Amino acid sequence: MGARELDGRRVLVVGASAGIGRVIGLRLAAAGAHVAFAARRREVCEEAAAQAGSIAIGLGCDVTDEAQCAQLIEDTVAGLGGLDDVVYSTGAISLVALADADASWWQRTFATNVMGAALITRAALPHLQRSTGSVVYLSSVSSIGTAWPGIGVYTATKAALNRMVETWRSEHPEIGFARIYVGPTGDSATGAQYDEGAFGHMARWTGLGVASGAQCTPDCIADAVELVLTSASRVWDVTVVPKDPPLPWGEYAASSGAPMP
Ligand SMILES: NC(=O)c1ccc[n+]([C@@H]2O[C@H](COP(=O)([O-])OP(=O)(O)OC[C@H]3O[C@@H](n4cnc5c(N)ncnc54)[C@H](OP(=O)(O)O)[C@@H]3O)[C@@H](O)[C@H]2O)c1
Repeated sequence: MGARELDGRRVLVVGASAGIGRVIGLRLAAAGAHVAFAARRREVCEEAAAQAGSIAIGLGCDVTDEAQCAQLIEDTVAGLGGLDDVVYSTGAISLVALADADASWWQRTFATNVMGAALITRAALPHLQRSTGSVVYLSSVSSIGTAWPGIGVYTATKAALNRMVETWRSEHPEIGFARIYVGPTGDSATGAQYDEGAFGHMARWTGLGVASGAQCTPDCIADAVELVLTSASRVWDVTVVPKDPPLPWGEYAASSGAPMP
């Protein structure tokens, strides 16, 4: 696809037990990368690594725990013999109206989407400097442009992630810090947490024009990650939005797996 080969590259994918991260890990392994699949459910990551069928390992880590983030990098380096690139696909997808969001929603979502991304990057930094590798973060199209009602906690964390990525770039130009603005994606958001008060707000998305009801696939996002990791031109930002025809709202809501109106 690009000028830098994936063959033999040692890549840690965090958030790889399910959803988009798992598909990314499998894709990179199929392209010859040596992949560490990581998330809280270690045994599911080990299954994914076995499915990858190449040099792959499964590791456990809760990114909201600083010591576990440092340990994950150590385990990856020990298991793969080094670390060249990181994909941060971890996400707490929180669907809650701001009026209903107490401190626990904010703490869980920020700790997972922002602090975890920072701590994993910090722990991986010496290895990334040696490899002049890349970190790819999964942001969201909902973090820019018109506000998406019903997911304001989540979009605030992705906006914070966006700014953090820009600062990493400024402080460490020797490393590639890439951002993928992901559009609504089917077969994913497996761990999303819903509060019923969000549903009425979410039903306005198509009317507001922020979402058409069409969905990307996890494979499209894996395409974008592969582009970033193989491009010689150091791609920074990629936006992936669906081109498929929109679904009627009822089908769109049903395909999300959530009990939406
Ligand atoms: N799906 C979409 O429509 C969409 C749209 C825009 C952006 N995105 C972004 O794309 C990324 C992937 O989303 P997805 O749809 O694949 O989500 P998902 O299906 O819910 O998967 C989330 C992954 O993150 C892991 N995870 C969650 N909390 C964690 C923690 N504290 N420590 C370590 N791992 C943790 C989960 O594994 P464990 O439960 O095993 O820990 C799982 O592997 C996220 O950053 C999301 O915000 C998704």
